[in-house]
Amino acid sequence: MDTLLYVEGLSVSFDGFLALRTLNLILERQERIRLLIGPNGAGKTTLFDALTGQVKPDHGRVLFKDHVDLLGLSEHVIANHGVIRKFQTPSVFPDHTVFENMVLSSGRKRFLATLAARAASRELDGIARVLEQVGLLQHAHARAGTLSHGQKQWLEIAMLLLQEPTLLLLDEPVAGMTRAEKEKTVALMESIVQRSTCTIMLIEHDMQFVRQIAGRGHRVTVLHEGSVLSEGSIDRVQPDERVIEAYLGRGTVSAEAPC
Ligand SMILES: Nc1ncnc2c1ncn2[C@@H]1O[C@H](COP(=O)(O)OP(=O)(O)OP(=O)(O)O)[C@@H](O)[C@H]1O
Ligand SMILES: [Mg+2]
Repeated sequence: MDTLLYVEGLSVSFDGFLALRTLNLILERQERIRLLIGPNGAGKTTLFDALTGQVKPDHGRVLFKDHVDLLGLSEHVIANHGVIRKFQTPSVFPDHTVFENMVLSSGRKRFLATLAARAASRELDGIARVLEQVGLLQHAHARAGTLSHGQKQWLEIAMLLLQEPTLLLLDEPVAGMTRAEKEKTVALMESIVQRSTCTIMLIEHDMQFVRQIAGRGHRVTVLHEGSVLSEGSIDRVQPDERVIEAYLGRGTVSAEAPC
């Protein structure tokens, strides 16, 4: 009874094409970060879509915290259960300040004009704490549009943290970041899971980033053609012949391949 996410036989098709094929995946409650890798088109994003109600699976079962059946619930209800998802492209409001973005994401849209006066001090403390955690406190009054790409990604992660996720789904959070920004993001992921009970499931192609996180003892799941191809520690997954084959078959050896 200690399962955070139980996925059994999940299948999703688009016009007859099976993007997920009877996929099975289990996240234990004590697990803090799960890395999800796999060649382009493996079904990684589709899995997130299915978990968050954005696509309707043909078959399968998804249980959250042992008792919440996520399939069939609306996106909004799934988010209320604590399954929060970040898309690849940052979607912050560029003309608002970092602080205003945080207030907006905390659901206080109507109070924006007088937000400083109206946001309760507890909320302000929470916003400041999360901004400090993602390294943006000193930029609180900068317009979000002036931030670097990496800072925008961190701002969006901060906005999601305000919703106090139980399971945070991040789709390629370091795509387009500089190496220095990626390094900071490794530390940020660790700080998120250390300071809260949140578990992170993270899709990423950048194998240096994946190795840095997995090297701290987090498990890796490799998807291929809609199913789990390999799973375990990075040292187990990386030399797996089937994994190497899957990446070679797609012609994506380069920096992405886990070999
Ligand atoms: N809305 C859709 N309509 C039709 N086909 C789709 C749709 N969404 C995904 N697919 C197909 O499903 C397969 C899996 O796509 P998905 O986006 O989940 O892959 P991915 O593993 O996230 O790939 P990438 O690493 O390139 O982001 C692909 O062949 C894709 O073309
Ligand atoms: Mg994807």
